[in-house]
Amino acid sequence: MNSPVVPFAGVYGRSGIHDPSLRRGYEMCRRATRATGEIEYAVSLLLPPPLRLATWALYGAFRAVDDLVDAPGGAQPAPGAAESADEAGQGRARRLEGWISAFEADLRHGRGTAPVRQALIHTMLTWNLPPGLLHTMFEGLRGDVQGRQFATWQEWRRYNNLINTPLVLSGGPLLLRIAGLSVEPEAIAAGVPEAAAAWQTAVDAIYLTDCLIDLSDDLGRGHVSLPREVLDEAGVRRTDLLARRATPEIVDMVGGLARQARTWLDRTPLPPVLHPAVGIALGTYRDLYRLRLAAMADAPAALLHQRPALSRPTRLRLLFPARARAALAWSLFPLPVLPCGPTQPGVPDGPDTPCGPGGLSPKPPAARPRLPTPPTPHPSGARPPQLPAEAMPRHVAIVMDGNGRWATIRGLPRSDGHRQGVEALVDVVHGALEIGLKHLTLYAFSTENWKRPADELHTLMHEIPQVVRRMVDDKLDVRVRWAGARSRLPADVIKDLLEAERTTRDRSGLTLTMCVNYGGRAEITAAAAKLAREAVAGQIDPGSISEHAFARHLHAPELPDVDLFLRTGGDQRTSNFLPWQATYAELLFLDTPWPDVDRRTLWDAIEQYARRARRYGSVPRIPAAAQPAACEGSVIGRNPSW
Ligand code: IPE
Ligand code: IPE
Ligand code: MG
Repeated sequence: MNSPVVPFAGVYGRSGIHDPSLRRGYEMCRRATRATGEIEYAVSLLLPPPLRLATWALYGAFRAVDDLVDAPGGAQPAPGAAESADEAGQGRARRLEGWISAFEADLRHGRGTAPVRQALIHTMLTWNLPPGLLHTMFEGLRGDVQGRQFATWQEWRRYNNLINTPLVLSGGPLLLRIAGLSVEPEAIAAGVPEAAAAWQTAVDAIYLTDCLIDLSDDLGRGHVSLPREVLDEAGVRRTDLLARRATPEIVDMVGGLARQARTWLDRTPLPPVLHPAVGIALGTYRDLYRLRLAAMADAPAALLHQRPALSRPTRLRLLFPARARAALAWSLFPLPVLPCGPTQPGVPDGPDTPCGPGGLSPKPPAARPRLPTPPTPHPSGARPPQLPAEAMPRHVAIVMDGNGRWATIRGLPRSDGHRQGVEALVDVVHGALEIGLKHLTLYAFSTENWKRPADELHTLMHEIPQVVRRMVDDKLDVRVRWAGARSRLPADVIKDLLEAERTTRDRSGLTLTMCVNYGGRAEITAAAAKLAREAVAGQIDPGSISEHAFARHLHAPELPDVDLFLRTGGDQRTSNFLPWQATYAELLFLDTPWPDVDRRTLWDAIEQYARRARRYGSVPRIPAAAQPAACEGSVIGRNPSW
């Protein structure tokens, strides 16, 4: 529908959105946000136009797709034929998968072929958002269609952690980025247990609120998204809930949950933000949620029949001063310059083309968006297994062994094995991206490998920089790092490795650490030598050297501990690979020689990892987090058997 967008023409104009169909896409997202995300919409109005649009696209697309899937053309039951709930559910699921495939194809081409897809892709490209956010969104949509059921709080929380919350789906990532924080929740919490606990509590609070807000819609679809144990504890029968009977037990349960969410929210400190306007927006978001929860706790029975809404005076009392303060803060501290959006048809690139946060700060010269190329699917059509986020390893390290033997048994020179191994490496990187792995570390050349014949060394010193350059040129969302020593490496190899690190430093999907001229003992010895030098120079007190201080001097100090240590080629040894980082890694040895490996081998290994119980010297934990109160301030480990 060609609806006019006159009231918001200024917002679109100041954001550099001139293409009518792109405006239409944003407009559909805006309406969907206003209709279903009262608080998200209110907070979006505290943001400058380009950020406002992005919030609508991220949140509204989620809701708009839900509507599109509900009311498509075609796939309807024949007139007179009643569609069963099952058939309706299957139809919705089919239409959703169709939309997602069309979206993925559009994303590959960098341009949406339908308005909502167009707006969403435009936002992703303009703000250079990590593609992982979309997986979050798609998982959320699939959950809505299929109506997930949870037996326990623990299951509920696991799923919730996977899809996250409206905060993450709306302007959250952008606000965090502007505030100078990482976009990835796990990175916010990385290594800081208190931050992880606070994040968990915030996510629990917001998601529980969302479950209550959506309660009437969910019941209408025959779904109950609360854990079964909550119903059991409250003595509530599922059938009563689905029939929307306001029994005393149901009213008590719903009111109690609203109070529980409020308690969790009250315990969540706001993240420290560098930008005052971002602080105002996040604070207002939290205050509006608090108000809404108070209203929900006061009238729980109403939630069975309708989505709750804040009264207009209540909303305005909070929003008026917030808008004034936010406007002042944005004028004093304009939006930092962020990546520019993709070119729109009919709008030439140039100094006059609004770009990034158009109209709010001096416009930078039009830069091209950096769009990571999505991974290429495996030729067999294999898709990665769907694992809960907490079951995924964060860091997989691989000893890529068996190249020489692979070639020898085929009567080929060993160098052919290395060349074939490069193809395996590239495929595994695509698979790592597909499954959403964050760190992959590959043993490409050890300090002991200098003992090899000259022609083999020659091949390796040729193939390693080649594959690294390929990672750069392929424009995958892969950040390349190098761990190893410079000594003996040819200068051009060092140059290529450093160049790859520099060129890919802003990529955020997968960190690929190439261990070239790497030796674990050498790494530890070098770290000890650096610390000794600092101690001799009086810069540090030797008595205060901690494991953490030590790790800062390793080749790649930011490399997390290895979760899964994989070796191909049939030998069961670690060969001086990552002794510091892999002390608690799960070890997996495969007979397959490296050249025969592809991404499916990695996925299988990750699935095996997901089934293992990690204890870190402790004893198996009883799932105490099954009670809501127990999760306050606690972090649920990634092990699915907990
Ligand atoms: C691993 O394969 C690659 C490198 C060490 C560079 P190998 O070359 O060690 O292969 P095998 O173990 O001899 O079969
Ligand atoms: C380990 O493999 C090193 C790399 C894969 C780069 P090796 O083949 O060198 O290890 P060993 O000699 O069998 O222990
Ligand atoms: Mg070997």
